[in-house]
Amino acid sequence: MKKISVIFGTRPEAIKLAPVILELKKYPESFDCKVCVTAQHRQMLDQVLEIFEIEPDVDLNLMVKDQTLTEFTAKAISAIDKYLKDEKPDMVIVQGDTTTVFCAALTAFYNKIPVAHVEAGLRTGNIYAPWPEEINRVLTSKLTTIHFSPTKQSRINLIKEGINLTDTHITGNTVIDALLIAIEKVKNNPPEIPDLPDNNLDSFNGNQIVLITGHRRENFGIGFDSICNAIAKLAEKFPEVHFIYPVHLNPNVQDPVNRILNNKKYNNIHLIKPLAYLPFVALMNRADIILTDSGGVQEEAPSLGKPVLVMREVTERPEGLLSGTIKLVGTDEEKIITETSKLIMNVKNSNDIPNKYNPYGDGKASDRIVKILLEHYHFDN
Ligand code: UD1
Ligand code: UDP
Repeated sequence: MKKISVIFGTRPEAIKLAPVILELKKYPESFDCKVCVTAQHRQMLDQVLEIFEIEPDVDLNLMVKDQTLTEFTAKAISAIDKYLKDEKPDMVIVQGDTTTVFCAALTAFYNKIPVAHVEAGLRTGNIYAPWPEEINRVLTSKLTTIHFSPTKQSRINLIKEGINLTDTHITGNTVIDALLIAIEKVKNNPPEIPDLPDNNLDSFNGNQIVLITGHRRENFGIGFDSICNAIAKLAEKFPEVHFIYPVHLNPNVQDPVNRILNNKKYNNIHLIKPLAYLPFVALMNRADIILTDSGGVQEEAPSLGKPVLVMREVTERPEGLLSGTIKLVGTDEEKIITETSKLIMNVKNSNDIPNKYNPYGDGKASDRIVKILLEHYHFDN
């Protein structure tokens, strides 16, 4: 029996680790799976835990409003260190590229506990884009024992950095496992979508929907102003199109969005609170176009056949560019307006994007990850 601590802190880590936790729990005779959350996010993390019915064994409850990277890093390392000394796991599992991931990997290393990294090997090659995530994942790879890469390309990135081939595995991305679970639930029981008219999407029948999300630190300031100005102009240009924007709780996002877009004259702009995962999946599925700087949304959209305009200069997810589902538009106001207008006017064709192939996986990534861990520890599957 091996004790495995799964440590995470934010919404996307919770979404992408939930299927891994559920899978580990299928092998109680091999794994004692412990869940520790830093709560780098609070409300947005709790929304995910609730949907996947995951109760953390330990909640470090570290979020404070508008936390700086340095403050959070210092607190997280101390708190995770205490947790690891108490829990004494045989392995730590982390996912992705947030500050929680880097802190957990570093602290596990200081305690000589091996780290397994889910979604390993994504790279832009630019340490300031996305910032600080690119450096978080580069450093986490240096601290990791078993690397679970979602795609061939992400594994190649690790090999190029000198990581042993035998320590790396291509598994697919666990976000697709989560998405398939969510789609099944949404189909059987359409969720309410809070803050929209009648808490559902019925009143938009026949109208196009542009779904927007955004939170990248490198876009704070001028970038976010430019994104919001573009949305305002698009809403005036296309009054019959609805722009639905679940606004991230980071004050650096809330401030420009409310300053520029929270105006009664834009009655086709709907600023709503971050959605729980099931309503968000239902909304993505109904949307005609997605405008985002999110990592996870770029991976989910191909399964739903949605065209995505990515408000970034570079992406660590080139597979979506190659498959034609995503296009980089950056944060230039005119470019966002031009590219979104093209899609709005041509939405029928854009919806013809091949939606059966998703380069990020087939929904079995967690199963592969747990099978590899069973082999690693010489357990029979
Ligand atoms: C973090 C991650 C980013 C990830 C994103 C997913 C880092 C440095 N950033 O960015 O990689 O893509 O999460 O969304 O790890 N807040 C709340 N409630 C919440 C969540 C956030 O109020 O549930 C507010 C707080 O004021 C908090 C602030 O947002 O201080 C920033 O949160 P933080 O986790 O530092 O950064 P994100 O921008 O969310
Ligand atoms: N998401 C959600 N509710 C929302 C917005 C996004 O559940 O209101 C989900 C989305 O489906 C994806 C994940 O959150 O799985 C992406 O999170 P985010 O964009 O915050 O982080 P990133 O992926 O950029 O790290």
